[in-house]
Amino acid sequence: MDKLVIEGGNPLRGEVTISGAKNAALPIMAASLLTDERCVLHNVPSLTDVDTMIKILRALETGVARKKGSIAISGSFKKTRAPYNLVSTMRASVCVLGPMLARAKYAEVSFPGGCVIGPRPIDLHLKGLEKLGAKIEIKSGYIVAKAKKLRGAKIYLGGHFGSSVLATANTMTAATLAEGVTVIENAACEPEVVDLANFLIAMGAKITGHSTPTIKIEGVKKLCGVNYSVVPDRIEAGTYMLAAAITGGEVLVKGANPAHLLAVIDKLRECGINVAERADGIIVSRPTMRKIRPTALATLPYPGFPTDMQAQMMSVLCLARGISVITEKIYPERFIHVSELSRMGSRILLEGPNAIIRGVKTLSGADVMASDLRASAALVLAGLVAKGKTNIHRIYHLDRGYENIDKKLSLLGAKVWREKED
Ligand code: EPU
Repeated sequence: MDKLVIEGGNPLRGEVTISGAKNAALPIMAASLLTDERCVLHNVPSLTDVDTMIKILRALETGVARKKGSIAISGSFKKTRAPYNLVSTMRASVCVLGPMLARAKYAEVSFPGGCVIGPRPIDLHLKGLEKLGAKIEIKSGYIVAKAKKLRGAKIYLGGHFGSSVLATANTMTAATLAEGVTVIENAACEPEVVDLANFLIAMGAKITGHSTPTIKIEGVKKLCGVNYSVVPDRIEAGTYMLAAAITGGEVLVKGANPAHLLAVIDKLRECGINVAERADGIIVSRPTMRKIRPTALATLPYPGFPTDMQAQMMSVLCLARGISVITEKIYPERFIHVSELSRMGSRILLEGPNAIIRGVKTLSGADVMASDLRASAALVLAGLVAKGKTNIHRIYHLDRGYENIDKKLSLLGAKVWREKED
């Protein structure tokens, strides 16, 4: 297993190019099962989560070929069971449920379960598919879904914590081949859902209202193969924006779409960080002498502040001049990074879903443990600015979601490298 070593203290400068979005690529790969024809996807990031989705598609006996950032999928799947050993390693595996059910009228997908960021139920996924006419049972740890025919329906898809990204994805993909019209109310509006809808439309699906809470899908008989390029990753972009801010540098984040990062840009400006929106990306800078201002924020469904940026923003606020408050409203237990940031000298008090952060002058390098993807990114940001050396252990989490992070950071002037450890 590798660890990441960072020697902090270098302001990042230069340009970084953002890769394709993991959370768009994964459901789009799964949605390729909706046709027998070949789909060629471009701008697919090289990540272990993408490797896992390829393994799942191959377990279904679908043809998958990969060349650099492109993946060709021929969707004539022969098996309908997504096995535990793969699904249990990645939540997004559940995205094959809707497409398989729509095509084969049968699907068995291992129950994805909870994870380190807290409980992650799937009731909304099941509700969406049941409303379309599926009969669903949980048998020996598997979701077994069958249907004679899927029929369009009016579906309210809101849960205790609001809309759901992947439940919207599963319901929308299944509805593309259902008979009649489906209306999803309280649909997720995240750019990754919009990208999936655009992919489905390119395949011949009839979808309107994506990017709003009401998505309308008119079922069609058949979808066809397409060439499609995945949208840039707004969370990777946001992470590099915060890397520029925390180190007091200046970085052009190329390919970042300001429209996808409104809440992050707004909070950065509130904290005294310069953000300039350009046609080719976003420039973020902070003169080293300018202190970070504290703030209060709550994570919310899009276009609110993304939960996937909460941990990274906490690292920045650890160095703000004053007290900040972060309220996690999507995953109230998503705070595993707090104890690791404390090892580096931060002062954070947890009170239910609220983190109260008292800014300190400096952080110091330490041995810390990566626990999940975004928590790992938060530790990287802290390590970039900490005095001395930070060893981030178990960095396989980072490789699930950040393409070549050590190389990209090195090109911006960071002192960062990988070392093997037992
Ligand atoms: N929820 C339910 N019932 C459901 C589904 C979700 O109550 O059936 C709840 C969740 O427990 C949570 C809220 O609804 O409180 C929102 O969860 P959502 O379903 O939107 O999450 P997801 O679709 O499973 C995706 C991303 C996550 C990201 C969330 C929220 C992918 C592959 N994953 O997960 O990304 O945090 O949306 O934006 O798209 C990450 O990339 O690090 C990551 C965890």
